[in-house]
Amino acid sequence: MTPKGKVLWFTGLSGAGKTTIAEALHAHLMKVKCMAVVLDGDLLRKGLNTDLGFSAADRSENIRRIAEIAKLLVHNGIVCIVSTISPYAELREKAKEIIGQELFSEIFINAPLQVCEERDVKGLYGKARRNQIASFTGIHDDYMPPVNPDLEIRTDLLTPDESVRKIIVWFNNLVNTG
Ligand code: PPS
Ligand code: MG
Repeated sequence: MTPKGKVLWFTGLSGAGKTTIAEALHAHLMKVKCMAVVLDGDLLRKGLNTDLGFSAADRSENIRRIAEIAKLLVHNGIVCIVSTISPYAELREKAKEIIGQELFSEIFINAPLQVCEERDVKGLYGKARRNQIASFTGIHDDYMPPVNPDLEIRTDLLTPDESVRKIIVWFNNLVNTG
């Protein structure tokens, strides 16, 4: 049963494992009857946010819209797993402000750029290096890592299963103590 809505805001480089972990966490939460949704930047950009690109202004608008959706859902008792690069600290701060600090947790899905680039699951790093994609995060555009995240998951050191287990243990503690 969902005790109370929360927003688990995943931030990290492309290829760090945000979507994989978000989906596995979502499956677990639904299995234990905790109502949860995934708001994935890459997917939302195919629909609601199809008009947005990757300029600083468009990334800001992307994050604003996602934060507003998360706010609506969280106030209905739903756990929102947000999975976006959200590369700049100010964007994540704005999201926290929109949602409300007490409902917002920042989870850093962290793998070094070199590891993400070696994985290159979608071939985007290769394209970025060949300048076939502009403003790619980590190559031509900044990623500002969280300074003090609520939780950090090192996906270069943990398996996806271990990563999800770590979040579940942390989340159970969060909802049982707060
Ligand atoms: S942001 O920065 O938070 O607004 O980005 P987000 O909405 O999470 O979208 C990231 C996904 O878009 C694809 N993609 C790019 N990412 C970063 N920079 C550039 N230029 C870019 N172009 C396309 C990419 O598939 C990202 O998905 P993930 O899941 O992070 O790999
Ligand atoms: Mg993804």
